[in-house]
Amino acid sequence: MKKAVILLPFLFFLITTISSQAYIRISTEKIDLILKVSSNNRVYQSYLGSRLQHPEELQTLTRATDRDVWEAYPVSGGEDFFEPAFAIRHHDGNMTSFLYYVSHEVRQTEPGVAETIIDLADNRYPVNVRLHYVSYAKENIIKTWSEITHQEKKPVTISQYASGMLYFQANRYYLTEFSGNWAQEAQMSTQELLFGKKVIDSKLGTRAAIQANPYFQIGLDQPASLNQGKVLMGTLGWTGNFRFTFEVDNKRNLRVISGINPYASDYLLKPGEVFTTPEFIFTLSETGTGEATRNFHAWARNYQIKDGKGDRLTLLNNWEATFFDFDENKLENLMQEAAQLGVDMFLLDDGWFGNKYPRVDDRAGLSDWEVMKSKLPGGVPYLVKTAKEKGVKFGIWIEPEMVNPQSELFEKHPDWAIRLPGRETYYERSQLALDMSNPEVQDFVFGVVDNLMKENPDLAYFKWDCNSPITNIYSPYLKEKQNHLYIEHTRGVYNVFKRIKENYPHLPMMLCSSGGGRCDFEALKYFTEFWCSDNTDPVARLYIQWGFSQFIPVKAMAAHVTEQNHTASIKFRTDVAMMCKFGFDIDLNKLTGEEREFCRMAVNNYHRLKKTILDGEMYHLVSPYEGDHTSVMFTTPGKEKAVLYAYDIFPKREDSVLPVKLQGLDPAKKYKVEEINLMPGVSSNLKANNRIFSGDYLMKIGLEVFTTQRMHSRIIEITAL
Ligand code: DGJ
Repeated sequence: MKKAVILLPFLFFLITTISSQAYIRISTEKIDLILKVSSNNRVYQSYLGSRLQHPEELQTLTRATDRDVWEAYPVSGGEDFFEPAFAIRHHDGNMTSFLYYVSHEVRQTEPGVAETIIDLADNRYPVNVRLHYVSYAKENIIKTWSEITHQEKKPVTISQYASGMLYFQANRYYLTEFSGNWAQEAQMSTQELLFGKKVIDSKLGTRAAIQANPYFQIGLDQPASLNQGKVLMGTLGWTGNFRFTFEVDNKRNLRVISGINPYASDYLLKPGEVFTTPEFIFTLSETGTGEATRNFHAWARNYQIKDGKGDRLTLLNNWEATFFDFDENKLENLMQEAAQLGVDMFLLDDGWFGNKYPRVDDRAGLSDWEVMKSKLPGGVPYLVKTAKEKGVKFGIWIEPEMVNPQSELFEKHPDWAIRLPGRETYYERSQLALDMSNPEVQDFVFGVVDNLMKENPDLAYFKWDCNSPITNIYSPYLKEKQNHLYIEHTRGVYNVFKRIKENYPHLPMMLCSSGGGRCDFEALKYFTEFWCSDNTDPVARLYIQWGFSQFIPVKAMAAHVTEQNHTASIKFRTDVAMMCKFGFDIDLNKLTGEEREFCRMAVNNYHRLKKTILDGEMYHLVSPYEGDHTSVMFTTPGKEKAVLYAYDIFPKREDSVLPVKLQGLDPAKKYKVEEINLMPGVSSNLKANNRIFSGDYLMKIGLEVFTTQRMHSRIIEITAL
């Protein structure tokens, strides 16, 4: 959420009537959102779709007459009987508001980025709403949010406060959602939206996205598909409770309302206080989700995620190799393994801290961020130094927003935890969420990173975990304002994230929440990547990675080779992880010499190709939901290099396998096709291996990369001559 300190001028007396033909045009290279100030001086959505080529025709758009209620920011109590974007109870108990146009301005904030600000005000109450729309021309992304303020005599209560509202008119609407559970994140499913409402929301507070991810696709007229059809793709940048409401009304319009979930969060807004909603970010495509995905990826790398254009570190993590069972000696050996493997960094996971309550399992010690002397007598400095001597960087795991009741911190500050007084406490993973609405707690949480960095300036990376939702909903700090808990908590989390970024702007950080429980684009402003799932079975990962990568660039999606699913070969496991931000979480000593050699070669290949994989344009070619095969590829913007991944999951022997048609190449260029990442001594049986084809051939005829072998994979390097 933006922390706006601006106070909107008191616009109550300034409401002006402008020409009933006044249009506000919010455009990208391919999209137009046209708002109209109608003759009743209210603002309506007049058009949303492909960019209109003839500006003079904007005058002839007929939608948005006074009674045609597609109001840009509808308030409860008006003539629109469907779900409003905004609901207020004034200080005198009145529950209606009408928002009238006051003024608007458009500014170019940087080349290719324009911001439109529209001021609205009630004419009976001093209530102002400012709508923001930022458009990214090349990336075809628009984001929108609102600021709400008032100058009434006493606080008002706002009970709905959407970031934005969009309307569509089509014959049919199909929603694809991304939902699941721990270890089953971002599973895609599609349903038709018929009359009434479908809601996707979260009430989990911290680990907000573990059951439903804050992402959706809408297929207009037909289900969203990869390469054809009109689609809307949208997401909310909010690390707390979110809500999307999809409502088909009596005229078969679709209304999409996105914002914070107001569940248990009626907000008491003081006079002069500005309530800023999080950003709702969306794109439209006329040619399916593939293009919309690339819009999101380009925008995220160019403008949103921390160090979006920068490099990423390969790593060896010790979590699945050791769990809590390690000492200095074991870690030194793992660092040695990391160096031999050729990765950039060793990442020490959970279990390195706690003395009075040693963190030997997940039941104690969390929040006592002092190194466990019995386990690691040399402390973190010794580990950082040892890693350096071995030739790798050193990163460390923390979970600073949480506390085990069995900890020194809890003994000292029981009131820092979110916990119901006088009731039985419910624990998830034996821990509680710290109360991030409390500034003292924010200082403590910031201090966890700051103290480690001050002691160890060479620390190269943090993995920031968050393993519990908010349970026992009561903030000792907020006292009688419990209805502010979910919002103030999330604001508190952002205060800390911001401080860390200000102090350590280039520190790479992984956002983790038992896997993908936190994966929204606001959090990713402060994190270079996130951990997609604790499920690293490569078969499950193909679906999870397919889901998340519909929105999130793979550069921000961490994937590690582990021991989960032994029936899959090391090559299959590696090839799956190599599609994302690559790492290992495995005891390499348990591998055969040949397997270790393969892993070293894979790391080498990845380092050589990571510019193409991480910064290239991603094409989702074959969906794992459509059969027993899946394929994706990445192409450099200049189309001189591409990497193709092909996976056979559980095909049947008698299945016919079709060639995969590539995308994103230059039809006129000639390309060499070469299968890489083969096990030592194995040569490729790909018919096209080491042959030369035009881009045209590869995109129209394709390559026969699939087989009928179970859990079989191929990585193919494609190089323009
Ligand atoms: C949950 C994470 O997802 C794992 O990778 C690991 O860091 C554990 N927490 C440690 O407790």
